Amino acid sequence: MCGIVGYTGPREAGPILIEGLRRLEYRGYDSAGIALVDEEGVLFVEKKAGKLGNLTTALAERTPHAAMGLAHTRWATHGRPNDLNAHPHGDCTGDITVIHNGIIENFRELRDGLEARGHRLVSETDTEALAHLVEEAYEGDLADAVRAALRRVEGAYAIVVMHRAERGRLVGARQDVPLVVGRNGEESFIASDVAAVLAHTNRIIFLEEGDVADVRPTGVLITDVEGVVRERPETLIDWSPEVAEKGGYEHFMLKEIHEQPTALRQALAGRVGRDERVHVPEIEALLPVLRTITRIELVACGTASYAAQVGAAALEAWTGLPARVTVGSEFRYSPPPLDARTLVIAVTQSGETADTIAPTRLARERGCPIIAVTNTVGSAITREAAAVLFLQAGPEIAVAASKTFVTQVTTLVILAAAIGRLRGSMSDEQELELGRALHALPDAAQRALDANAPRAEGLARRYVNSRGFMFVGRGATYPAALEGALKLKEISYVHAEGYPAGELKHGPISLLDADCPLVAIATRSSTYDKLISNVMEGRARDARVIAVATEGDTHIERYADDVAWVPETHEAISSVLAIIPLQLFAYHMAIARGTDVDQPRNLAKSVTVE
Ligand code: AGP
Repeated sequence: MCGIVGYTGPREAGPILIEGLRRLEYRGYDSAGIALVDEEGVLFVEKKAGKLGNLTTALAERTPHAAMGLAHTRWATHGRPNDLNAHPHGDCTGDITVIHNGIIENFRELRDGLEARGHRLVSETDTEALAHLVEEAYEGDLADAVRAALRRVEGAYAIVVMHRAERGRLVGARQDVPLVVGRNGEESFIASDVAAVLAHTNRIIFLEEGDVADVRPTGVLITDVEGVVRERPETLIDWSPEVAEKGGYEHFMLKEIHEQPTALRQALAGRVGRDERVHVPEIEALLPVLRTITRIELVACGTASYAAQVGAAALEAWTGLPARVTVGSEFRYSPPPLDARTLVIAVTQSGETADTIAPTRLARERGCPIIAVTNTVGSAITREAAAVLFLQAGPEIAVAASKTFVTQVTTLVILAAAIGRLRGSMSDEQELELGRALHALPDAAQRALDANAPRAEGLARRYVNSRGFMFVGRGATYPAALEGALKLKEISYVHAEGYPAGELKHGPISLLDADCPLVAIATRSSTYDKLISNVMEGRARDARVIAVATEGDTHIERYADDVAWVPETHEAISSVLAIIPLQLFAYHMAIARGTDVDQPRNLAKSVTVE
């Protein structure tokens, strides 16, 4: 969740690092800092609490000329978000500087030992201990010292270290937290995220667990912590830097909402052909196992867990096997029965969510076949899985997920159909009906956007003073209710609940009144009539009703104050279209309430700690 970027090469490091931080700001943003080493070997450090702007103001005209440096945006885990705790951190000699993302679990013990040996630690962070450990191990070779220090560390980390006397050299390491190296001619980059360096290079090396990268302007040597050389391939990333920019929209979230038709097209690419049949080549190696599984467990957090609920329903419908979703933080400590006949599907857009990775690892250790569904090439989850389905949605910068939700739903539904076909429990007709709907989905998403984008601002204005919101759905539309409520609370800070509509009368109906509207996902489905009865119960309590309904529904306007129209589609993927007006509603509620849409308070894009 913190952002890391380092540079070594012939150009001015300062502006490159600040620009890199700007692209990483979404990963963590309670403070920021930079360290530069100039031609004379003089170390310059500046760090500031708050947004990146505070750092750039502090730097103003005094950024030194330097060809090597590192920079960081922090999301606090140990110690308050203040100037002192901001990264980089240094050692006693002032020679060594460290930036870090993750948590050093044995830092208390390390710190006590360091202090007992005379080191002076000035911050409250776990990271500072690392700088002093490197200092203790340093005998003239930074990479050796970092490896020795890491052998004493327990925890999760991505770090970059430099020594002011070793100009041109950065040493990075990763364990359970992402770190990449970018190469371009006579210069090298190291970063927590490809987006930080894409403006300069698309030649990326994804470091793997336990890697230590000795980075110089002209190349990189990767070893493990014992110094044994590891070969890592260079990958050419085809995301243009512009893809990671706002592209003319006011916020990344709005841009990403509008990117959904394209993201869906990409997610379908190679998976739903002109023949309107589903193809998932990624699971080929698992075919014998998939024929013998008896249960399916899905593990995910937040938005991904709602997408997983759609996937579980499709899996049950088309495989006949029990399929269930457990959020990662519960799965880890109360795991369901797991064995070689339990398929585990881990769903995580970032691929780095600690609460999802740990249970997946546990399932793997118990012999379960694992399939990962993620947006992030090279992420930690991909190393836990026997098969990986990438969302192919492109980078998502806004903290609030949008295009990754719709592509997760789509990918999971395709996977469910592929397993159903393989096991002979999904008919030809069922597959073709789904294939047709999937084929039409990107255009349908575009229509949903075109219909709702111009109206969403007005809708939000009419409801902006509401005390809270109750989102309801039934069956296939229930996950969209959960996701709609999460979107609203995440970015507008308005309380919202997602409930199965039939549950209203068992308690939450007491919240409904003229200040607590009901948002009903009332798209055409097998439970439409039942849902309408629940809406009537809400209206009888004076609740205003916003309905998301299928184009051509001639009844709904009788029961709703406002209707957001979406095209008709297959029930299994109805949440893909139903969520679009709700994303737009949440976005405009946030704008109307003046909140920080792309970086909502207390949240981070990728939650890499438990
Ligand atoms: C989504 O808007 C949220 N920011 C959050 O719930 C997120 O979906 C969750 O943390 C899981 O993230 P992942 O998909 O990267 O694992």
